Amino acid sequence: MDRMISKTVWITGASSGIGEASAKLFNAEGAYTILSSRNLEALRRVQSELKHPDKALLLPIDLERYELAEEWVSLAIKWRGSVDILLSNAGLGQFSRSLETSNAIERRIFDINYHGNVALSKALLPYFVEANKGQIIVIGSIAGKFGQAKLATYSASKAAVILYYESLRQELKDTEIKIQVVSPGFIQTSVTLNSLDKNGQPLNKNSPAQENGMPADVFAKKLMKAMQSNRFHIYIGRKELLAVPFHALLPKLFYSILSK
Ligand SMILES: NC(=O)c1ccc[n+]([C@@H]2O[C@H](COP(=O)([O-])OP(=O)(O)OC[C@H]3O[C@@H](n4cnc5c(N)ncnc54)[C@H](OP(=O)(O)O)[C@@H]3O)[C@@H](O)[C@H]2O)c1
Repeated sequence: MDRMISKTVWITGASSGIGEASAKLFNAEGAYTILSSRNLEALRRVQSELKHPDKALLLPIDLERYELAEEWVSLAIKWRGSVDILLSNAGLGQFSRSLETSNAIERRIFDINYHGNVALSKALLPYFVEANKGQIIVIGSIAGKFGQAKLATYSASKAAVILYYESLRQELKDTEIKIQVVSPGFIQTSVTLNSLDKNGQPLNKNSPAQENGMPADVFAKKLMKAMQSNRFHIYIGRKELLAVPFHALLPKLFYSILSK
């Protein structure tokens, strides 16, 4: 798609799943791609599988260390003089009952999913404001639209993300800076496998919903289309997306069906 040619797109969580698939697609469409996550080896593997590996910068970041966000942004900007688009996608799941989830686990989930994403946006936005252009797409979740057993912390972190960026969009409404939230349904990635259990360890167990979800490369194509629309909050997935309006309209019935 022409809109990607020569754009510089920064993708966090680029070492796997949605971020990896998006990085591969954007790069194949001609974008200069900045690949970020913690695991440099995994980023190297993704780079080697890009159509244009020479049009990629590997920028390892750990969102838990979000006090470094300004340094990361300086490095990203230095590469090509600017960043046009940030796909703020990195995230971590949690799967444990609330009373078994320690404060430390809750803090970790919020540090990555909320504070890390927000700090990165806030470090990049001054450049966007000065140029009066730029685009941030943050990945939310349908889980941020309704509560579910064993997902309290994850859902709360995603709800916080959605409302933060909705507010930010209002603050920037008279500028050329575009802010969007894209909320996936069930996408075939390692998100459930990587989710923290009650001991703060990866769950290492997948859910049938995840396994039968939308393939990540299909998601990436829909994401690229969504980025070109002027809608603020876009949902991408399959029939599970119906849970959002169902919950909003008939919450009692929704939870009675969910508990069966
Ligand atoms: N798949 C779904 O069904 C689904 C549904 C709703 C929302 N989402 C959201 O989609 C986003 C992408 O997840 P995914 O499904 O692609 O899962 P994934 O395969 O587990 O990918 C998560 C990515 O986040 C990175 N990451 C984790 N912790 C990080 C940290 N501290 N600092 C920097 N990067 C970190 C991981 O890389 P490293 O391990 O290399 O750091 C990885 O690249 C997440 O925000 C997730 O919540 C997914």
